[in-house]
Amino acid sequence: MDDAAPRLRNDTDFRWPEQGLQVIPDWIYTSEEILNRERERIFKGHVWNFVGLEAEIPKAGDFKRSHIGDIGVIVSRAEDGSIHVFENRCAHRGAEICRRHNGSNAEFVCPYHQWTYGLDGSLKAVPFRRGVGKKGGMPGDFKMEEHGLTRLSVTTHRGVIFASYASDMESIPEYLGAEVLKDFEATFDGRKLKILGYYRNLIPGNWKMYHENLKDPYHATLLHSYLVVFNLMVAGQKSTMTVDPTGRHGSMGSAKGDQVDETDTSQMRAYRSDMRLRDPRIVDFVKEFDSPWSVTMLTIWPNMIVQRELNTLGTRQIVPRGPNEFELNWTMFGYEGDDEAMTRHRLRQGNLMGPSGFLGLEDNEAIKFVQDGLRHSTPEHGTLALGGTEEGTTQHLITEAAIRSMYRHYRGVMEL
Ligand code: FES
Repeated sequence: MDDAAPRLRNDTDFRWPEQGLQVIPDWIYTSEEILNRERERIFKGHVWNFVGLEAEIPKAGDFKRSHIGDIGVIVSRAEDGSIHVFENRCAHRGAEICRRHNGSNAEFVCPYHQWTYGLDGSLKAVPFRRGVGKKGGMPGDFKMEEHGLTRLSVTTHRGVIFASYASDMESIPEYLGAEVLKDFEATFDGRKLKILGYYRNLIPGNWKMYHENLKDPYHATLLHSYLVVFNLMVAGQKSTMTVDPTGRHGSMGSAKGDQVDETDTSQMRAYRSDMRLRDPRIVDFVKEFDSPWSVTMLTIWPNMIVQRELNTLGTRQIVPRGPNEFELNWTMFGYEGDDEAMTRHRLRQGNLMGPSGFLGLEDNEAIKFVQDGLRHSTPEHGTLALGGTEEGTTQHLITEAAIRSMYRHYRGVMEL
């Protein structure tokens, strides 16, 4: 541990159980100290954090508020078209300078004492900098260039914007690894994106559970009646749970296919052979991607989900709000060349997901149930089980191997 990292109260309180990656200790989901360490080691560490899409800030002066972990940032496009990401925290007294979710402006003015910043986060003006009548004001050696907003490294890949506190980051293709990159680029295939709308959820669970949920194809075939009954993701279908070489990123893929046989459905309580859709267009799949999968859910460490569920597309950004809660910010999109019928199709199919969709609310509620269980257990001895010992990529859905890979990476970074 380096000296700058926050010290745990007592490292023996946070010793990973001897069973290794077969179990997860429950304090990683409930401890404020662990979250503080995650902020320093993970979100402010050697990672690319997802902060937005270029299509959200197409013109000079456009901006959006975003987050890195629980740290507020602004994503801004400057006069020359370059993209900048800086903390939404005034260099003077720390006030949040931007309160709007998005918009367009020529500068950022702090509401408190009106220090004014440019579109790149540099300090441009300080009222009464030299005082009044030669009295007061900033010291004579005050240098404007030393008091800008804290700026981060920025990169983009296929219209997706990432930021990092580290200054020595690899490219996005290197960061994702070849296999996850392939699924990333199947969705972000070079066509310009068109933003269709936003959802926001507040979920009463630890932020890592959302990664787990989407690295856990086991639950998908059991919890989600809709997936199973309407044949969108069923145990026995052609599928993959891909893990990058570091273990931190994943891609769950499944190919919508023929109805599965009865031996596969007999263990799924969610399966109902007598259910039919009145309007089956919601599960239509227009093949438009260079991919064998009709569904892919990418978990890009540490804060991004890329959803490609048939033709409904979106990103989700994970924002921790303390150890027991996180915010999920969804951005739904299509492509600029979509005709009216395709846009309608994407919007209609969007009802599969989202806070009031047929699938998303079940995940959110399951996460709440787990967090409730953890908060009421005895923290120093509690563990969560992961069945089996396999890690890495698997070609079937009944597995927790990808979760185990993520926690191998997590333990290394967190020194747990
Ligand atoms: Fe921003 Fe004073 S806190 S100008």
